[in-house]
Amino acid sequence: MKELSIYIHIPFCSSKCFYCDFTSFSGQSNRVKEYIDSLIVELSLHKDSLQDYRIKTIFIGGGTPSAIDAKYIFKVLDYIYKNFNISSDMEVSMELNPGTIEFEKLNIYKEAGINRISMGLQTFNNNILKKLGRIHSAEDFLQSYNMLDNAGFENINVDLMFNLPDQTISDGMKDVEALVRLGVKHISYYSLIIEPGTLMHKWHQENRLKLLDEDSERKLYYNVKDFLKENGYQHYEISNFSMKDYECKHNMVYWKIKPYIGVGLSSHSYLNNKRFWNTDDLSSYIQELKKGKLPIEEDEIISKDIEMAEFCIFGLRLVEGIDKREFKDKFGVDIKVLYKDTIEKHKNSDLLFEDDRYLKLTDKGLDLANIVEVDFLP
Ligand SMILES: C[S@@+](CC[C@H](N)C(=O)[O-])C[C@H]1O[C@@H](n2cnc3c(N)ncnc32)[C@H](O)[C@@H]1O
Ligand code: SF4
Repeated sequence: MKELSIYIHIPFCSSKCFYCDFTSFSGQSNRVKEYIDSLIVELSLHKDSLQDYRIKTIFIGGGTPSAIDAKYIFKVLDYIYKNFNISSDMEVSMELNPGTIEFEKLNIYKEAGINRISMGLQTFNNNILKKLGRIHSAEDFLQSYNMLDNAGFENINVDLMFNLPDQTISDGMKDVEALVRLGVKHISYYSLIIEPGTLMHKWHQENRLKLLDEDSERKLYYNVKDFLKENGYQHYEISNFSMKDYECKHNMVYWKIKPYIGVGLSSHSYLNNKRFWNTDDLSSYIQELKKGKLPIEEDEIISKDIEMAEFCIFGLRLVEGIDKREFKDKFGVDIKVLYKDTIEKHKNSDLLFEDDRYLKLTDKGLDLANIVEVDFLP
């Protein structure tokens, strides 16, 4: 049976963080019930065409899935278990914000089959947390982390961001050191992106943010990378570090361009060489599903040329690189022949290197990944 992953988007948040441009909003909690009903209708519309697939991973992301009543999360997962083919070793992840849980909620998540938690901390520095518009403190995070631990969740990711307003290299290092002391199994480490349309973008344009210069930002990243490696973490994707066997299986599906469907507001799907995505307007989403129609905004056929290019682009973001044999098995072409000029060019400029099995970015190449990636596009 073919394998499939499912992404479920929950757009509700307690308040909007100043840097965030994800499809998420506060003040709409009165619409949670009809949203969940719509999600179930959406899943039911996909169900018949997906009976040849077995579900390998599910990821409930947001927004803040832990901000809504846990019974809704249970309801959606229960629907999937009863109507789709499920793998016995399925990874079921959910994003959770510090300070949004209590013990009873965690029991419902367990009963619902959630076995991996991804928690957004961003930083332990309470002053910086306020500047980001986060509604929790470092202490809230520790309390939630301990609660998860006591409830028996051990596969936990923590998101950190770096190059935050007023953050020093030493602040950044302290964040990572504290997570290592806690024994966190997986760390996602993201450099702040100033997204257009956010408050942070406005402040940046008004020169009101004190951020690191480019060299210091890279220095912090390299220090963190070395520190995590010394402490037994594998650096397996540009922004992701994990202890052995704790890589995120769901994200690997995206990076290896395997099939997935996304349900919920603005979520993306990739199936049968077609990419399609949902509307990001809550009312249209609910209305379309009330009419029994999928709320798809647009779709795009992915040609073989694009698929091969994307396989390379995402593959290079994995630290192990592109498996040359896997490429040949998947596409029936030798990667070295197909991208001969691109590979030679970037090997000569010390951005790419290869061993018997893999083609990968050098350390310098990981910093300049964008430059290499565009050359794979048709
Ligand atoms: C879907 S988001 C949010 C998950 C959850 N609601 C939370 O805030 O903890 C996943 C992660 O993306 C990262 N992120 C969001 N916006 C970002 C930005 N503008 N720049 C860098 N990282 C960002 C944050 O680390 C965040 O935890
Ligand atoms: S970062 Fe997370 S909590 Fe903050 S607005 Fe975005 S999705 Fe919501």
